[in-house]
Amino acid sequence: MQRWNRKKTQFPVLVFLLFLFIVFSNLHSENSILQIQDGHDRSPRHQDSITYVKPNLFSRQNHGPEVLDRFSTCNSTKEYSGRKIAWTDRTPRYGHRRDTLESCDVFSGKWVFDNSSYPLYKESDCPYMSDQLACHKHGRSDLGYQYWRWQPHNCNLKRWNATEMWEKLRDKRLMFVGDSLNRGQWISMVCLLQSVIPADKRSMSPNAALTIFEAEEYNATVEFLWAPLLVESNSDDPVNHRLDDRIIRPDSVLKHASEWENADILIFNSYLWWRQGPVKLLWSAEANGVCEELDSLGAMELAMGAWADWASKVNPLKKRVFFVTMSPTHLWSREWKPENEGNCYSETSPIDLEGYWGSGSDLPTMHMVEKVLSKLSSKVSVLNITQLSEYRKDGHPSIYRKFWEALKPEQLSNPASYSDCIHWCLPGVPDVWNEFLFHFL
Ligand SMILES: *[C@@H]1O[C@H](CO)[C@@H](O)[C@H](O)[C@H]1NC(C)=O
Ligand SMILES: *[C@@H]1O[C@H](CO)[C@@H](O)[C@H](O)[C@H]1NC(C)=O
Ligand SMILES: *[C@@H]1O[C@H](CO)[C@@H](O)[C@H](O)[C@H]1NC(C)=O
Ligand SMILES: *[C@@H]1O[C@H](CO)[C@@H](O)[C@H](O)[C@H]1NC(C)=O
Ligand SMILES: *[C@@H]1O[C@H](CO)[C@@H](O)[C@H](O)[C@H]1NC(C)=O
Repeated sequence: MQRWNRKKTQFPVLVFLLFLFIVFSNLHSENSILQIQDGHDRSPRHQDSITYVKPNLFSRQNHGPEVLDRFSTCNSTKEYSGRKIAWTDRTPRYGHRRDTLESCDVFSGKWVFDNSSYPLYKESDCPYMSDQLACHKHGRSDLGYQYWRWQPHNCNLKRWNATEMWEKLRDKRLMFVGDSLNRGQWISMVCLLQSVIPADKRSMSPNAALTIFEAEEYNATVEFLWAPLLVESNSDDPVNHRLDDRIIRPDSVLKHASEWENADILIFNSYLWWRQGPVKLLWSAEANGVCEELDSLGAMELAMGAWADWASKVNPLKKRVFFVTMSPTHLWSREWKPENEGNCYSETSPIDLEGYWGSGSDLPTMHMVEKVLSKLSSKVSVLNITQLSEYRKDGHPSIYRKFWEALKPEQLSNPASYSDCIHWCLPGVPDVWNEFLFHFL
C-alpha cells in the first residue's frame, strides 16, 4: 500500500542555497511572441471559455519580451486568468511503443546487498566528483550505501559496461537537462564512463549553464544543462538564482530548447523547484510586467505542457528522450520510524517495506506527470525512479558533504538540522538510474 501524508511539504530556503556551480549564465534566448487561441473546455460542466496559449511562437521581426533573469520582477500580480497551454500529440502512431517493448517492469523490484559487483566505481577515482555528493571524502564512514544493486522482480537489468555505453554514444551528444538532482545523475554518468577513457583524451568544460564532458575517441559528449523549471524562469542562472518570488514564462521553453535542440539523447527532470509555494506567471504576451499567481502544481502543469509541445515534435527514430520522475526526499524519519523526530541523518540501510511511499513524493504531481507523459509515450520514455529511490533513506549525504556557508554552533550540535536529505551520495542511487538508461538505450 502506498502511504500518503497530506502534510504540506515545505523545502527550506536553505536547500536551494545549496545548489553549486560558479559561473554566470550567458544563455541567449530567442524571444517569443505568442498567439492566443480561443477555445472551449471540452468538459460540459464548464461554460466559461478557456484561453489556450500556443507556446514558443515567435517571429524574428518582432523581438518579443525580455528574457527573464534573477533581477526580473513583476510590476503587479493578479489572479490566475485560467489560460492553458495548447499542445497536441501529433504523433503518427509508430509501429511500436518504446516503453512497452519491455515485458518486464524493471522499476518494480528490490534492493539486494551486493558488495562483489558494487560500487561500479570508486569515489576517489572520479576526478569529476562533486563535493556536494562525495560523502566518503566528507567523513561518512558507513559505506553500505554504495553496495546495493537493484533487482527487478521478474527479470534482470543489463549489466553496466562502460565500453558498451561509449559505443552507444559514439558520435552523439547525451544531455541531461534539469535541476541539481539531474546534475547528480549527470555526474554519476560521467564517473561511470570516464574511467575507460585515457586522461589526455577527455575533457570537461568549465562549469556554466551548459557543462560538457567530452571523449575524443568516441566523438561523444555527456552534457548537463541547468533548467530547473524546464521553461524560461528567473532561476535559470546555475549559481545566482532567485529563491523567493519564482517567475516563469509558462509559454516559453525556447531559451533552453535552443541549447538542447541538437542533442541526440536527452534526459529531463523537474520537480523539487516546484515545491515551494505559489509561482508567478509572466506570459510572453504580457507587455506591462503584470504577473499572475498560480499554485505550484498548476504552474508545473503549464511548464510540462510547454515542454510537451516541444517533445511532441521529436522524431523518435532520430532522438531519444527520457523523463526522470521525481526524486524522493527523506526529511521526516517518523514516516518510516513512527514517533522518531529526525530525518535521513544516521540512516544506514534501505527501507524494506515494499511499496513504501513518503510525503516528499507528491502524488498529485505524479498523476499530472503521468497524464502528460502518457500522451507522449511514442516520443518519451519514462525513467520511473521514484518508488525504488523511496526505499533509499540511507542514500543521502546528510551531513557528509561540503556546505557552502559556515555552520553555526547550534547547527553543529544538532546534525539533523542541517542534513541534506535531498541529494544522493555517489557512488550510489543515481548510478542505478543510469543503469536503467543503459538498459533502455
Ligand atoms: C562483503 O560483505 C560481507 C558481509 O558483510 C563480508 O563478509 C565480505 O568481506 C564483504 N566483501 C567485500 C569484498 O567487501
Ligand atoms: C563490455 O563491452 C565491450 C564492447 O561491447 C565488450 O568487448 C566487453 O567484453 C564487455 N565487457 C564485459 C565485462 O562484458
Ligand atoms: C562527430 O559527431 C558528429 C555528430 O555529433 C558528426 O556530425 C561528425 O561527423 C563526427 N565527426 C567525426 C570525425 O566522425
Ligand atoms: C512596469 O510598468 C511601468 C509603467 O507602468 C512600465 O514603464 C514598465 O515597463 C513596466 N515593467 C515591465 C517589466 O513591463
Ligand atoms: C511510476 O510508478 C509509480 C508506481 O511505483 C506509479 O504510481 C506512477 O504513476 C508511475 N509514474 C509514471 C509517470 O509513469
